Amino acid sequence: MKILFSQTIPADARLVARIADKGTMPAGLETSLVEGARIARFKGNAGQSFDGFVDRGEKVVRVAIAGAGEPGSKDRRTNLEKAGAALTAKFLTSGETSMVLDLSDSALGAQDAASVLLGLRLRGWRHDEYRTKLKEEQKITLKTVTVVGAPEGIDAAWADASAVATGVEFTRHLVSEPANKLFPVSFVEKCRKMFEGTGAELIVLDDEAMETLGMGSLLGVGLGSDQPSRILAVRWNGGAASAKPMCFVGKGVTFDTGGISIKPAAGMEDMKWDMGGAGAVAGAMLALVTRKAKANVVGVMGLVENMPDGKAQRPGDVVTSMSGQTIEVINTDAEGRLVLCDALHWAQQEFSPLAIVDFATLTGAIIISLGHEYAGLFSNDEDLAARLDTAGKATGDKLWRMPLAPAYDKLIDSPIADMKNVGPRGGGSITAAQFLQRFIAKGTPWAHCDIAGMAWADKAGTTWDKGATGYGVRLMDQYIRDTLEASAEG
Ligand code: BES
Ligand code: MN
Ligand code: ZN
Repeated sequence: MKILFSQTIPADARLVARIADKGTMPAGLETSLVEGARIARFKGNAGQSFDGFVDRGEKVVRVAIAGAGEPGSKDRRTNLEKAGAALTAKFLTSGETSMVLDLSDSALGAQDAASVLLGLRLRGWRHDEYRTKLKEEQKITLKTVTVVGAPEGIDAAWADASAVATGVEFTRHLVSEPANKLFPVSFVEKCRKMFEGTGAELIVLDDEAMETLGMGSLLGVGLGSDQPSRILAVRWNGGAASAKPMCFVGKGVTFDTGGISIKPAAGMEDMKWDMGGAGAVAGAMLALVTRKAKANVVGVMGLVENMPDGKAQRPGDVVTSMSGQTIEVINTDAEGRLVLCDALHWAQQEFSPLAIVDFATLTGAIIISLGHEYAGLFSNDEDLAARLDTAGKATGDKLWRMPLAPAYDKLIDSPIADMKNVGPRGGGSITAAQFLQRFIAKGTPWAHCDIAGMAWADKAGTTWDKGATGYGVRLMDQYIRDTLEASAEG
């Protein structure tokens, strides 16, 4: 969807949208619209919408009104996104090809208007690449939105917000791609293309390099696959040359069959999005790079395919991680932590980060705990946890804090190695987090976000269609704004 700006409403406009706060109506509307909206019980609630047709001289115009809720709401930003998204949801496949968003009488500032546009654009993203037989009425028709009467400063505000949208869309693309198209090598290639000419530095480790580094845990997961494994790091130095970077790490299992501890057939296709953590990190880096964030950030992605095969690792195998710690692989389906532990260790060694936050579709158990509303947040640092929580609330990428404790840690002790890769059935998300914590150096602030319930949605939400949500991109972007970029200015 293209978003354009104009001073005046084009003469041929057939669809004009307006934004209304709760309990108000845009100025200058025909009585039939005002009455119609009242009868249809349109109240200007966030995400509510109404549309009607009016005769304006020589043409009939369709007028749509989207509700933005109370102006003073603490959820104002989300509500404005909902208003924009409601318009897209309504008209994306409606046959309308262009829409005017008339903001001329609205009191919205540049940031507010950018929020409406962000919602509008995010809700319009779909992955139709492999659908060659879509019926006419299923195809996207709405191609351009022309904003009229945008507030002063919209150019900068929208450049900033649209960079975030670009990141979210890249994540959704990666997460939606099937595993025969997206595997470690093609993931890296897609990133190479996306980051080309942006000023970001890409570092790629192949199997041989990882072997040399002693990443026996990550490499063990890839043994059963014909696809070689990779680590990809995207480095962006937008801050002071001497400043340590913030580091994000993502689980990128491009397909998770479970390995020899194979998963049941039903629903296994979902495991194409087991690279959702790495996808989110790639998208967040793209957002930061596109808006030239004034911060040093590095995104590290552990990319592996988990398959059963004659060469695959077996339950009971003992592997040695790059940290030197040994792991008894009780269940080859608990592979995410085996990938992350080497990626986390390498990231700390290589980049000496200020703090490290990982994103992973790590456990089914987190979906039992939190469903699809919050990702699970585990952290060894109160300040980091609080700031992530704040960023989550601001962007809608919500987090719920979960515990870490020595009593849980004991549950993954092994009789033969330093640890085993699974604990008992209970507290499965927590023991997974405890496992990761064993690879975090003392004194390094670390957080783990278990996004298994968030990367994919079975039904459409406020700013996403069903499918890949792009969860995590906005969270990471906001965190960088609130921390590294805020202190760079102050
Ligand atoms: N990728 C899965 C977790 C997952 C499940 C993500 C459902 C998204 C939706 C992970 O690798 C896994 O298989 N975890 C196991 C761990 C168990 C073997 C200890 C699980 O959750 O069942
Ligand atoms: Mn698994
Ligand atoms: Zn997995």
